[in-house]
Amino acid sequence: MLRKINKIFHKKKQKKKIVCLTAYSRNFAKILDKYCDIILVGDSMANVFYGMKNTHDISLDTMIQHSKSVKKGITKALLVVDMPKGSYSTLKNAKENAKKIIKKTKCDAVKIESNNKNFKIINELIKAKIPVMGHIGFTPQFKKTFQVEGKNKIEVNKLVKEAQLVQRAGAFSIILECVTPHAAQKITNSINIPTIGIGSSSYCDGQILVTDDLLGLSGFYPKFVKKYVNLNRVIEKAVKKYSKEVKRKIFPKTKNFLYGK
Ligand code: KIV
Repeated sequence: MLRKINKIFHKKKQKKKIVCLTAYSRNFAKILDKYCDIILVGDSMANVFYGMKNTHDISLDTMIQHSKSVKKGITKALLVVDMPKGSYSTLKNAKENAKKIIKKTKCDAVKIESNNKNFKIINELIKAKIPVMGHIGFTPQFKKTFQVEGKNKIEVNKLVKEAQLVQRAGAFSIILECVTPHAAQKITNSINIPTIGIGSSSYCDGQILVTDDLLGLSGFYPKFVKKYVNLNRVIEKAVKKYSKEVKRKIFPKTKNFLYGK
C-alpha cells in the first residue's frame, strides 16, 4: 500500500500526470487497472448506478459491497473508497467505519470530503494508519447548489488554506472538484501532495472522471466531461439486434446449443 502511495508522490515530483477513474464493479475495474494509477469507488455510485437524486443516502454497506467487487479486478492500481455521508460525522464513527472499509474491502485508502472542517478526522485516521485522500471545492455531500469555486481572491485563498490544512492533517493527495484554473494552479503549487482535478482544468497533478460519463453511459455530460465513446448507442445497437434475432428465430443457432441439435 505504501509503495503505491509513494509512486503517486513520485509522479508529482517528476511532473508526470496521475491518471484516475471511478469504478463500481469488477469488470470495469479490470480494464481500468491497466491504465489508471488510482481507482476510486466514488459515492457518485448513488446517482450514477442506483439512480438516487444525490450522493447522500448511499449506505456504508453498499459502498463496501461494490468495493469488494472492484478489488477483485485490481492488480496494480491504488484502490480508494469514498466514505459516504454520515459515516465520518464524529471522530469515533470515522475511525470505526474507515477500519471496517479497509478490513472488508482490502482497499489502500479512504476518501473524505473536508468541508473546511474535517481536518481532525483526517488526522485521526492517519494516526490509525489509514491513508486518506482529501476532497475540496464542490463537495456534493455538503453543498446543496452546484457552483464553481475560487472565482475571486478571497475564495482562492480560502481554498489554498483548506488544501494546506488537509495536507497538514496527513492526507496523501487531494481531489479538487470544480475549482477555477487559477485556484487549481495556486493550490497545486502551494502543497506537496498531488492534486487530482475534476472539472478543475489541467493545472492539477492528475485527473479523475466518473467512468460512466466518459463512456457515454450516464447521460451526464457537462463541459468538463469528455465523452470518449457513446456506449449507450453501442449497447442499444447490440440489444436491438439480439431482440430482433430472438423474435425472428435467428438466435440461438444450433451452434449455440449446449447439447444435441
Ligand atoms: O464520488 C465520486 O465519484 C467522486 C469523484 C467525482 C471525484 O468523488
